[in-house]
Amino acid sequence: MGPGPSDVHPRVLRAMSTPLIGHLDPAFLEIMDQVQELLRYALRTGNRWTIPVSGTGSAAMEAAIANLVEPGDRVLVPGNGYFGLRMEAMVERAGGEPARVEAPWGRPLDPDDVREAVERHSPAIFAFVHAETSTGVLQPHVAELAAIAREHGALVIADAVTSLGGVELRVDEWGLDAVYSGGQKCLSCPPGASPLTLGERAMEKIRERAEPVRSWYLDLSLLSHYWGDERSYHHTAPITNVYALREALRLVAEEGIEARWARHLRVARALRSGLAALGLEPHAEEAFWLPSLTTVRIPDGVDGGRVARRLLAEHGIEIAGGLGDLAGRVWRVGCMGHSARASNVMALVAGLAASIEAEGGSPDTAAGLAAAAEGLAEAD
Ligand SMILES: Cc1ncc(COP(=O)(O)O)c(C=O)c1O
Repeated sequence: MGPGPSDVHPRVLRAMSTPLIGHLDPAFLEIMDQVQELLRYALRTGNRWTIPVSGTGSAAMEAAIANLVEPGDRVLVPGNGYFGLRMEAMVERAGGEPARVEAPWGRPLDPDDVREAVERHSPAIFAFVHAETSTGVLQPHVAELAAIAREHGALVIADAVTSLGGVELRVDEWGLDAVYSGGQKCLSCPPGASPLTLGERAMEKIRERAEPVRSWYLDLSLLSHYWGDERSYHHTAPITNVYALREALRLVAEEGIEARWARHLRVARALRSGLAALGLEPHAEEAFWLPSLTTVRIPDGVDGGRVARRLLAEHGIEIAGGLGDLAGRVWRVGCMGHSARASNVMALVAGLAASIEAEGGSPDTAAGLAAAAEGLAEAD
């Protein structure tokens, strides 16, 4: 129940013990086709360039940025969370010139601020985080933000690491040019093969680059020979991770992507009400609360690190503390993929209450359990 990796589904674990075949074996080429098609389904996109990047979410993030940002490009990045700042660092390394659009850690970007920043900086690219795992904030108004950027000729890159497969995400309908994600959050897959999709406008910018991408490994014009029609060698694919991702995506398709978003919302809402009834104050307002990651403030007089360690040692449940500006101020509780289950919510609320109490706090345990149970009963 931390910010990821989430519990891996037993079917995915089983798929990972499948004997290896070569990355150019005809049977593997079929698996690649299936993974690409399933990814398009989960991302709600028809983009031809939809692939798993070898590596974790940061590799997919770097693939998007390293390929789309050319030296001297102005890139608008968000200043309202830890992962937006990682985007900024990657933009600098790609030779781009980042400009920030700011919001406090715990609030989403405001469309008026984005419009003002786009008009002021005329960026080639606007990058934002759909689900900020450091703050528990879901960026609303995505289609509106994308339209503002596109009206001014900018491409739009979205970080969907903590939303894909758990929170509504519609790549084509919302006008997103490049979107990347990771396996270990709402897809409940081990990290190692990370989704990336690019629309035609994005691919055109890559094809027209004046100089090659500085990363050989993540250069999409080279990778496209392997993941495109040719299917020729670029680097050895992480075979086992691709098996795992295929199984995880099949589970998404079997459940149905919209039903899966609805499940996350129902279970996470019960979790959020349970935590609130214990007496913990949510850090992100309901209007932009991220169901897959709930942040709550650590009560005064309680050592958040000690509570989290006790919860893990005595109840076998993992949660995390805050990152960056929120270090020591919040706990981050995940509700992702296979972990988004009623039994986990009840165990978490009970275990956290006991751990807070043991560390000198005074949670209202009965109210917390009753609120969580009520939320879950409504869910059924
Ligand atoms: C929003 C967001 N973006 C990017 C990443 C980076 O992914 P990874 O740690 O898999 O490299 C994370 C990881 O937690 C994340 O939460």
